[in-house]
Amino acid sequence: MTNEPSPARFYLTTPIYYVNARPHLGHAYSTIVCDAIARRKRAMGIDTWFLTGTDEHGQKIERSAQLAGRTPQEFAAAIASEFRGLWDRLGITYDDFIRTTEERHKRGVQKLFATLRDRGFVYKGSYTGQYCVSDEAWVDVLPGAPCPDCGRITETVSEENYFFKLSAFERKLLEFYEENPGFMQPESTRREVISFVRSGLADVSISRTALKWGIPVPGDEDHVIYVWFDALANYMTALGYGSDDDQKFQKFWPADLHLIGKEISRFHCVYWPAFLMAAGLPVPRSVKANGWLLFDQGKMSKSRGNIVRAETVHTVLGSDALRYFLLREIPFGQDGNFSFEALVQRYNGDLANGYGNLVSRVVNMVHKYFGGVLPDAGPETAAEAALRESAIRTIAEFSPAFDELNFSDALKTLWVLVAETDGYL
Ligand code: ME8
Ligand code: MG
Repeated sequence: MTNEPSPARFYLTTPIYYVNARPHLGHAYSTIVCDAIARRKRAMGIDTWFLTGTDEHGQKIERSAQLAGRTPQEFAAAIASEFRGLWDRLGITYDDFIRTTEERHKRGVQKLFATLRDRGFVYKGSYTGQYCVSDEAWVDVLPGAPCPDCGRITETVSEENYFFKLSAFERKLLEFYEENPGFMQPESTRREVISFVRSGLADVSISRTALKWGIPVPGDEDHVIYVWFDALANYMTALGYGSDDDQKFQKFWPADLHLIGKEISRFHCVYWPAFLMAAGLPVPRSVKANGWLLFDQGKMSKSRGNIVRAETVHTVLGSDALRYFLLREIPFGQDGNFSFEALVQRYNGDLANGYGNLVSRVVNMVHKYFGGVLPDAGPETAAEAALRESAIRTIAEFSPAFDELNFSDALKTLWVLVAETDGYL
């Protein structure tokens, strides 16, 4: 199975964020990266669909709501509107925002579950093992041991579950990765995922009976569907998968790009393509993982207490400056440090003194020498020919760098043009 891109349209997604807590700059980073890609695709005349949203079911949310003394519905609605409100303030150009508590989503998730069951990939069994509520993940450790991913204590779960025959997809997945080298980026993610699959895939539980806050298994309402199965399906349900009107789904599926943080690669690169293969549906064309935004040496996260709010930066410097900073400062795919010093330095150096100064000089000169009206171009001088050549070269360098998500280098080349234009002036 090869997975050729379609040049005429582009469908891209952010992760859907958990509504256990308000958004911070880490969430904003992934969303801003996606937004920048969507803006560029549209500018190039490509029919683009950009989806984001919120992940609202499962134990993690159920417990956070309980702690806050609210129902999960109320709690989820309040935080989901915080996410949406922040994206609006930051000028994120999303085309759709999906909440997993919406009817259109439930319908599609149940359809996907029923499809896998009808095709013989789901069976009932019993599970005893460890569960990490924070990651909503089954983990292969001994009782009492911490989660190997996040270090939090795991809980012993012993319940009747529906299982998905993930083991049947080991070879198919490996073949798929082999035939589609561009499917996973960066290389570190690709290597990690492949070695995980090579080490052997066990079947995975896709329902829970210990909680109520989820989407019921069709025909067996004592079970709710496992939250990661529920969540991953958002990428299709938002396009109308499972509804009578699935025109968007026909047009935009498979997704061209799922942009994610590196810690959720296994769900997106192993489980998700396996579910889709089992359902007889096309697999996404690519999954690209950003590294972590660090603050004070650690991954920025609510539980570590080292978060910065995007609002803080936005209020002082605006969303364009924040977007520029994140894309310029952090080589995509690597972890990158956030600091207010670096932000201020980029703002003053690149934006105010570099680009801002150039714009202001041009505007002043147009006023001073041409009465505020841009005159027609005269005969081209040697200096102007050189500048034109330089602009052409910049575009030629910018485009491939940006398209490989190498935003930092792409922006660096733009600033060479800024300096050359300054020299010309
Ligand atoms: O994992 N640096 O949701 P989540 C960079 N609901 N990116 C960060 C970050 C940081 N410090 N902190 C968060 C979930 N992110 C699931 C996803 S998708 C079907 C379900 C970003 O609220 C990054 O994109 O834990 C990461 O993968 C995502 O937020 C995790 O958000
Ligand atoms: Mg997380």
